[in-house]
Amino acid sequence: MTTETPFYLAGHLAPVPDEIDAADLPVTGALPAELTGRYLRNGPNPLPGQDPGHWFTGHGMLHGVRLRDGRAEWYRNRWVRTRRLTEGAPFIHADGTVDRTAVPANTHVVHHSGRILALVENGLPYEVTPELGTVGPCDFGGRLTTAMTAHPKQDPVTGELHFFGYGFTAPYLTYHRLSAGGELVESRVVDVPGPTMMHDFAITEHHVVWLDLPVVFDMDLAGRGGLPYRWDDAYGARIGAMDRAGRVTWFEVDPGYVFHVGNAREDAAGRITLDAVRYSRDAFTGIWPLVGGGPAPAARTGGAVLHRWTLDPVSGTTAEEQLDDRPVEFPTLNDAHVGRASRFRYAISSGAVVKYDTETGTSRAAELDGRPGEAVFVPASAARSEDDGWLLSIVTDRRGESSELLVLDAAGLDFTASVRLPRRVPAGFHGSWIPDGND
Ligand SMILES: [Fe+2]
Repeated sequence: MTTETPFYLAGHLAPVPDEIDAADLPVTGALPAELTGRYLRNGPNPLPGQDPGHWFTGHGMLHGVRLRDGRAEWYRNRWVRTRRLTEGAPFIHADGTVDRTAVPANTHVVHHSGRILALVENGLPYEVTPELGTVGPCDFGGRLTTAMTAHPKQDPVTGELHFFGYGFTAPYLTYHRLSAGGELVESRVVDVPGPTMMHDFAITEHHVVWLDLPVVFDMDLAGRGGLPYRWDDAYGARIGAMDRAGRVTWFEVDPGYVFHVGNAREDAAGRITLDAVRYSRDAFTGIWPLVGGGPAPAARTGGAVLHRWTLDPVSGTTAEEQLDDRPVEFPTLNDAHVGRASRFRYAISSGAVVKYDTETGTSRAAELDGRPGEAVFVPASAARSEDDGWLLSIVTDRRGESSELLVLDAAGLDFTASVRLPRRVPAGFHGSWIPDGND
């Protein structure tokens, strides 16, 4: 590597050059037999010799680890074969139209109603097989005419999948809902003042929660290599609560930015509580050169901290509170509590997996000898409490040379098992546990 190598092609972010398969992986500790399924994780991985010009625009690569009855049966990695990868198809045509299949599909991988989808927020989902082969782009029978966020939310009671698409041309924001059976049954344009970057959102039992925050599209930045979005003090900051009829109540909040939501819920009085990892203006503008393109700043976590908003539709008031001062990202929870009351959050910090108890206001951390990726919660089959289960995270050593799939007991953050992976896995973005019987 030379000093000119972009940070997203070096160290723990450096791409791997090929696709491999490995069987019967070495396990330290004891893998719970009931962890039978697949852990899949997505992230950018440019082709060998390729510099996409930006961390976020490398081709999506899925890494999968197949666990069964206490054994680690296989690891494999596969690029998502999008039209961008196979044909080099352009995202924007000469006439200004957008090709939503010409995207990297590199941000998340989720499962719903028998489909496994690789997601990136400016394009259509790409369906993949349980063995990580690419099926192709999915527009739900022609009904999805916008992009799809990489952070859809499955209602744990109804099984519906709520999501949205945002774009830099009108309509700027469109809400969508899949039935539990995977049919796109609702699409609804939501009025917002301008084209903001909306990476995530939240749901509650009866509402969808929008984050209309002051990071806006700027045409003047397009084509310069970074993402064409910038902080805009003039835009203001609002959180919206949309009911099932599409009526949105907007709440003015202190300007900040959110990439990732922890959870939201509503109480009997209709008050909505939203937890998310929030960047202050200074924290956002400090990390945006890294995320948006340009040199990497020294402090990559940028001081984003767990934050809580309480929105009262009766009084029209909002209350805000910082829940902790530890810089974190990639919040997760027991997905059976999405949109409902929930006590525990998990997140990662530099070299640690963090657990928050929002009931007692305390946190604890498992300090690791390496860099952890997002910690995905997997419930125990006969769970007796919200945190009865495990956290799965790919941890890479600090030199970026080897990786493991770490399994922690979610209750105490104690070591349960580690699967040694046959190769270094570049730090990526988001993933899912897909138990057998769901693919
Ligand atoms: Fe994300």
